[in-house]
Amino acid sequence: MAKNKTAFKCAECTYQTVKWLGCCPECGQWNSFVELQEQEGLGSLKASGGQKSVVMTPLSSVAMHQKERLCSGIAEWDRVVGGGIMPGSFMIITGDPGIGKSTLLLQLSVQLAQRYTVFYFSTEESLAQVKDRAQRLDCLMGAQLLFSDQADLSTILETASQAKPDLVIIDSIQNCYVSQTQTAPGSIAQLRETGFHLMRLAKEQNITVMVSGHINKEGTIAGPKTLEHLVDVVLYLQGEDRWQSRVLRSVKNRFGTINELGFFQMGVNGLQEVPNINEQLLNEMSPVPGAALVSVLEGSRPLLLELQALTIESKLGIPQRVVSGLDHKQVVLIAAILEKHLKIRLSMQDVFFKISGGFSVKSSSTDLGVALALLSSYFQRPLPEKSLALGEISLTGQIKPINQISFFVKEAQKFGIKQLFVAYNQKVESTNVLIKSFHSVYELLALFTD
Ligand SMILES: Nc1ncnc2c1ncn2[C@@H]1O[C@H](COP(=O)(O)OP(=O)(O)OP(=O)(O)O)[C@@H](O)[C@H]1O
Ligand SMILES: [Mg+2]
Repeated sequence: MAKNKTAFKCAECTYQTVKWLGCCPECGQWNSFVELQEQEGLGSLKASGGQKSVVMTPLSSVAMHQKERLCSGIAEWDRVVGGGIMPGSFMIITGDPGIGKSTLLLQLSVQLAQRYTVFYFSTEESLAQVKDRAQRLDCLMGAQLLFSDQADLSTILETASQAKPDLVIIDSIQNCYVSQTQTAPGSIAQLRETGFHLMRLAKEQNITVMVSGHINKEGTIAGPKTLEHLVDVVLYLQGEDRWQSRVLRSVKNRFGTINELGFFQMGVNGLQEVPNINEQLLNEMSPVPGAALVSVLEGSRPLLLELQALTIESKLGIPQRVVSGLDHKQVVLIAAILEKHLKIRLSMQDVFFKISGGFSVKSSSTDLGVALALLSSYFQRPLPEKSLALGEISLTGQIKPINQISFFVKEAQKFGIKQLFVAYNQKVESTNVLIKSFHSVYELLALFTD
């Protein structure tokens, strides 16, 4: 006689096992395993006969939906999402609690509602609270936006399927619930289910769906990684305390470049765009010993960043190397190259290194800037005002050219950069910027010694 198959499923994360367990090995939840019905068990996906087959379609004859992207007119947003929102896409915007997700979504939807039909489902806040925010942001008048505080997913889906708006916004997905699932809103099983149905709404009905989501302590979207796989676009709103700034970053985009950055400033009137971020970064720069300017490509935009080095005679047996914003190994390596080729005693010095604005970059094109910042601090001599370093350094101490230099030079010229430090074989299109080229790190000494 065939043995009756049983299986147990974690109600939190849907992990399955043949034996009951007290603690789920996947999500760590205690006492969450429930016995499955036989047809729900591990073998339920096996063909049981009677399945339908599909008619395959040649790609050339597939009917196309509306292609034009939905532009909000908020330039920083439109650029980050790849030149406007792709119709029928499923997007998630996430960030720390209180960072400004709801503010951004409200401002954005007010703009979009001027041209498109937008349904805004506020699952966390009451309509009165949303209205209060809209009044503060001064975006209540004339807004065509339609609101609801409904959080039941089936009602949201039904409303959207019947009225077919261009855009459905849900703030937030963690508070949305599927009434048939026996777990609390925000649990992994609920999020999977909600995500799956919203994805179907977007794809099958060509309705753009945008949801907000919380992140957990590790800085990733709270919930399964599958939510990130499911959506087309993942955006992170991050905070920089210094000028109450907010950085919007695309980490996944099926319809555009990733790592694109949008800059905003948070104020009483909500998020204001900062289109001239490089001007702001440059204004904070001063030609002092230890500072060097570099440029790195973030998405499609070159950012001008100040590297700050501090070298000081070490009082400890093992000198310290404290680096933030750059790869620790990169700074240690360049310090070693300088010591070897320039015969300076950096190994007897503590080295502290950071990047202005709290940015974090990983690019070998900053090598030359790192070397210049270290030498500038070591010799206590500032680099020439408005000079920019663009070059890699090999282990042999040679300065190497970098890719796509024209991008950086164009941006540098816009902000009045007067001098460029590059590799001797770097091709730079004729500019009115003074070019100073180097073969090896040895030649850098001339900048700091008379
Ligand atoms: N009156 C105000 N003046 C200036 N800034 C304000 C004011 N009220 C709120 N803010 C800003 O808005 C932020 C809250 O924004 P919002 O509610 O959009 O964040 P959120 O990311 O949606 O938060 P949650 O994760 O709780 O949903 C506050 O942290 C604050 O910076
Ligand atoms: Mg919110």
